[in-house]
This record gives sequence, C-alpha cells and structure tokens, in this order.
Amino acid sequence: MSSAVPSSLPRSRRALLFVPGDDPRKIAKAAASGADCVVLDLEDGVAAGRKLVARETVSSSLQSLDFGASEKLVRVNPVGSELHPGDIEATIAARPDGYVVPKVESAEQVREVARRTSLAPLALLALIESARGVVQAAAIAASDPRLEALLFGAEDLAGDMGATRTREGAEMAWARGAVVVTAAAFALQAIDTVFVDLGDLESLRREARAACTMGYAGKMAIHPKQIPVIQESFTPSDEEIEKARLLVEIHAGHQASGEGVFALDGKMVDWPMIRAAQRLLSRARAAGKFQ
Ligand code: COA
Ligand code: MG
Repeated sequence: MSSAVPSSLPRSRRALLFVPGDDPRKIAKAAASGADCVVLDLEDGVAAGRKLVARETVSSSLQSLDFGASEKLVRVNPVGSELHPGDIEATIAARPDGYVVPKVESAEQVREVARRTSLAPLALLALIESARGVVQAAAIAASDPRLEALLFGAEDLAGDMGATRTREGAEMAWARGAVVVTAAAFALQAIDTVFVDLGDLESLRREARAACTMGYAGKMAIHPKQIPVIQESFTPSDEEIEKARLLVEIHAGHQASGEGVFALDGKMVDWPMIRAAQRLLSRARAAGKFQ
C-alpha cells in the first residue's frame, strides 16, 4: 500500500502565526494579519503568573474579534499538566476552530484532548518537540480521526536531545524528515518549526523553501513580518503551476493512447512525477491560486 493521499482538499496552513494569549494588542494584530492560522498561545509564550489572564483574554478575543479567513487555534498547556483541563474548559465555549497540543509523546494524549472536546467540531494539531514524541510519531499520527497535522518543534527538541541549534540545521535533519514522512504516511499535514531570528527574512525564506521541498505544508511564524515570506515560500509559483498543469494534461493524452512512460524536455516522465504534479496543483488550489 502506498501512503495515503487525502481525498478532500486540506485546509491551507502555510503560515501559522503564534501570539501570546495574554496580549490583546498583539492578538488584534494577529487577527488582521492574513495568516492562514492564528495560534492563540496559553503555553510557553505566556509567563506562569499570566496564565489565568491569558485564558480570559483568549476566550474574549475569540468571541469579539474578526479573524477574517484565518483559522482560529488555541495552544493549550501539555496534557497531564495542571493547567491543561482548565485551558480547554475556559476556551471551548468561545468556539475556536481547533487546538494545538504541545509536547505530545503518545497517542493517548491526543485521544484525551479528543475526548474532552468531543462535542465540538474541532481540528487537532499535535506538536512533536521531544525525542519521545519523534520516536512515537507514527502512533501519535494514527491516534484520532480529528488529528489533521503534525507540527515539528525544533527548539524544544534540541533542548530535549542535548543538541545545539545551528543555522544550517543538520542536527535537526533526521527528526525534521521523520515528522514529514510520518505525517504523509497518515495523510496528515506537516508544519515546520519556528525561525527565531526575526531580523533575517532571507534565511527564513531559505528554510521555508527547503521545508516545502521536503513536503511540509507550512511553517510556524512568531512575527507578522514573517507571514508573507512563509506564504510565498509555500505557494507554488505561476510557472510551477503551469508546468504541473501541462504535465498532467500531456500524461492524460499519453495514457489515453496506451503509453505509461514518455519523455518531456529530455526527461523521463512516469507516475511519480504525475503524482507530484497533482500534489502541487492541490496545494495551489488550497492556496486559492488554481481552480
Ligand atoms: N502576533 C501579532 N502581533 C505581533 C506579534 C505576533 N506574534 N509579534 C509582534 N507583533 C506586533 C507588535 O505588537 C508590534 O505592534 P505595534 O507596533 O502595534 O505595537 C509590531 O508587531 C512590531 O513588533 P516588534 O516591535 O517588531 O516586536 P516585539 O519586540 O514587540 O515582539 C516578540 C517580539 C518575539 C516578543 C513577538 O514577536 C512575539 O510575541 N512573538 C510571539 C512569540 C510566541 O508566541 N512564542 C511562543 C510560540 S513559539
Ligand atoms: Mg515549545
């Protein structure tokens, strides 16, 4: 069996902007930012003494602000922490579109959130950001039908592994690959880690393009100025779309005349390239660039 290809069009999740849940000014900016998803954070972006204020701010922002086309997500504290149950209780009535669950290390942790939120139609997204999380990624990916994405968290993982983060990211290569392969195997989206150097948009673009070529659907953002760079990096260009469209069209013609494989511009074309072209067109469609 080959890896599962989702039959319906997945939600476009190119740029996921994180915003501290206790900061109404930033939340208002995030709501108007044009990010594909806004993640209202109750976890590590909020100081210990501000957790309860953050719950109230997140809940009232969800009810009062217009987030436009952005998906409204809440990042709760980890399953098993004292804060976790109250985070969901305090925000679920404000109807977020989904929850981001951090530091996931087992399928049971996702199922626990699924049970707690079973009455609401919500998406669940799991952050894989510990050594145990990476090792358990397949079980986590298979945990619940409402799980839609695996998010790769390199900063926490580096701390957990005793790895030192570098600009090139070689120390994260294996885990970054494991997360995207596992996500694809279970027809989930994979979302790449944050880029913390706010002043270096060119390196952000390089990292985002590299993640896109690996099969990642998007990347987390921590500042509004990172959004357009990330969105461009995960949106196929007009040229790529035209090339893919042509490939699919020519392939259909060859199939009709009984040829499984052919050459185009001096390169062999067969099914793997056609599937890649179909996926690219599907990403373009999800981003609203292709009908
Ligand atoms: N969401 C929404 N708005 C944001 C934002 C975010 N993540 N980050 C910055 N802004 C806003 C600021 O409020 C500021 O708006 P203003 O000029 O109207 O006051 C504007 O963008 C420019 O911000 P800037 O001065 O460049 O950044 P900063 O020093 O205020 O903030 C950070 C820097 C890193 C603290 C901030 O970007 C941030 O909080 N990021 C999210 C961090 C987070 O959630 N981490 C946990 C998940 S990994
Ligand atoms: Mg983290």
